Amino acid sequence: MLKPRESITALDPYRSPIASRDGLSLDLNENLAGCSPRVLARLRTLGTEDIARYPQREIGERLIANFLSVNPSQVLLTNGVDETLCLLFSTYLREGSELIFSDPTFVMYPIFGQAFGAQLVRVPAGENFAFPAAEILARISPRTQVIVIANPNNPTGTVAAPADLLRTVEAAPGAAVLIDEAYFDFYGETMLGELARHQNLFIARTFSKAYGLAGLRLGALVGPPEQIEFMRRFCSPFNVNAVALACLEEALADQDFVREYVTQVRQGREQIARLCQEMGLRCWPSSANFVLVQVGGGAGAFAAAMQRRGIMIRDSSANLGCEGCVRITVPASHQMTGVLEAIRQTLKEVQP
Ligand SMILES: Cc1ncc(COP(=O)(O)O)c(C=O)c1O
Repeated sequence: MLKPRESITALDPYRSPIASRDGLSLDLNENLAGCSPRVLARLRTLGTEDIARYPQREIGERLIANFLSVNPSQVLLTNGVDETLCLLFSTYLREGSELIFSDPTFVMYPIFGQAFGAQLVRVPAGENFAFPAAEILARISPRTQVIVIANPNNPTGTVAAPADLLRTVEAAPGAAVLIDEAYFDFYGETMLGELARHQNLFIARTFSKAYGLAGLRLGALVGPPEQIEFMRRFCSPFNVNAVALACLEEALADQDFVREYVTQVRQGREQIARLCQEMGLRCWPSSANFVLVQVGGGAGAFAAAMQRRGIMIRDSSANLGCEGCVRITVPASHQMTGVLEAIRQTLKEVQP
């Protein structure tokens, strides 16, 4: 029988992260305000030529480089951050090398790490999901090839202090350190300014969250030009599709849309936190577009009851330290009253 590599057969079977598209999806940290109308207008202008031709990624890389004030040679445009992870991990990880990450974090890190044959070094987060800087430093070894840090983190929404991120980058000069800034816009702090000083530092950005383009699949990896060049050698030249590329300029130009949505998210996070306080539920201060809430033992039952009310949320209870927790994407402001009421009613139902 045809046999894949052991690191692939050892992976858990695939289960779609999308349970259903009926109702309000607060389970995937998408943009509930949609996307910029300027992007939609650009989409409507696309014609045969745009679709029939292979896409030209370099134009998009120049746009992003300009926006981030870096050189185009430092930017690799990708099919979402998921592809960024795949490219970076496959470049540096090899059989037996170590991938370090704090736990809990984004589910794809261990999946890609394992697929490329790495030893997973899971470092438990500290109290209140604090970034375990000292523990990570202690686990760095000559076999450490990649350290990946989501900042803000998913599913907790917590952040690491810039000094701790820097210490990690400096302590592992032989490893690629990727700061995954997928939720940057809701937080505002970035490590981009450190790029020039560190030859092992990479930053990932996505257009799936604040820009509302999850369906277009657009991400970027920014890092040292000579390292990015290695990844360019084997990355598909057409990894980012023509529709996404055509929309990029408008998406970047409409910073009013991004600001307006970020404002909604910041207010929404506060409203969810206030409800939690009122209902005696624990939640963690979030710098992202979601909030982790401890609803008690029946997190699965809580998520199912919310779904019966037409709202999908994520049961996060299988994550380390997240027993009894659900992750709720912040809805758009016009959806908020209904969502808060659904949470109240669901709590009464599952914890009468
Ligand atoms: C921390 C983190 N990184 C990356 C991603 C994936 O982003 P993309 O849609 O660009 O693949 C997510 C999606 O939820 C995420 O939470």
